[in-house]
Amino acid sequence: MTAQLEIRGVSKSFGGVQAVSRVSFDVQQGEILSIIGPNGAGKTTLLNCISSVFHPETGAIVLDGRETTRLAPPRVAALGVARTFQNIALFRGMTVVDNLMLGRHIHMKNGVFRSMLYWGPGRREEVAHRQVVEDIIDFLEIEAIRKRPVGSLPYGLQKRVELGRALALHPKVLLLDEPMGGTNHEEKEDMARFILDVNDEWGTTIILIEHDMGVVMDISQRVIVLDLGAKIAEGTPAEVKATPQVIKAYLGTKATV
Ligand SMILES: Nc1ncnc2c1ncn2[C@@H]1O[C@H](COP(=O)(O)OP(=O)(O)OP(=O)(O)O)[C@@H](O)[C@H]1O
Ligand SMILES: [Mg+2]
Repeated sequence: MTAQLEIRGVSKSFGGVQAVSRVSFDVQQGEILSIIGPNGAGKTTLLNCISSVFHPETGAIVLDGRETTRLAPPRVAALGVARTFQNIALFRGMTVVDNLMLGRHIHMKNGVFRSMLYWGPGRREEVAHRQVVEDIIDFLEIEAIRKRPVGSLPYGLQKRVELGRALALHPKVLLLDEPMGGTNHEEKEDMARFILDVNDEWGTTIILIEHDMGVVMDISQRVIVLDLGAKIAEGTPAEVKATPQVIKAYLGTKATV
């Protein structure tokens, strides 16, 4: 089977710090793959390489057979790679619905602001994009907060809106950097359910960085483990959990998962 996304020998350093070190793995279309590892292991940096925020010093990123390694981030987004950020990246003063519309902008020929302001050629296009956004609002059950400025929402809901902004792109590959970080138990369960539903409903490939091992083991088909920038294990949750190197590097001396 040809992989949808191939990470081939990717390395990225910052000054003297080797953040990601010759990491390779394949991601199949439609799978939920988690990346785990201790703080500073290089997880976010790797995601940043996939979305082209950083360009790696060595190696290649290949999406559907096409190398994307050195493309600009909007090009990679236009090819179908969307993401959320470890620290929420939304326009806090804007409403939920407007943040979602902005997430859609990459598909707008007339530009988001023109299509919002004018009753003209951009109008029909805007109606279609509004529908996409309405569907996401339904899907994520955020109708009640659609007019609220994002900055006024509880953290867990902001995370959900950020997922919505990424979904507005109708991505093929969705990169989620700790979507449950800093949220409570109920919000975590909601987010896990939405991730599974996105994957189920649209067949979206999902790469998830998450520290909560319970969630990772529950919803991922495969897990990649990073430590000090290097991949130290790869396999099903059960396989990874049983790897001595993983238990030592990440899970502590006794396996608690
Ligand atoms: N923009 C940057 N400039 C300098 N150093 C960086 C930068 N981004 C990451 N690093 C360094 O690269 C290493 C990997 O960081 P990264 O954020 O990728 O880890 P992480 O696995 O996502 O950690 P966490 O679980 O804390 O989010 C760390 O040593 C970090 O300090
Ligand atoms: Mg990180």
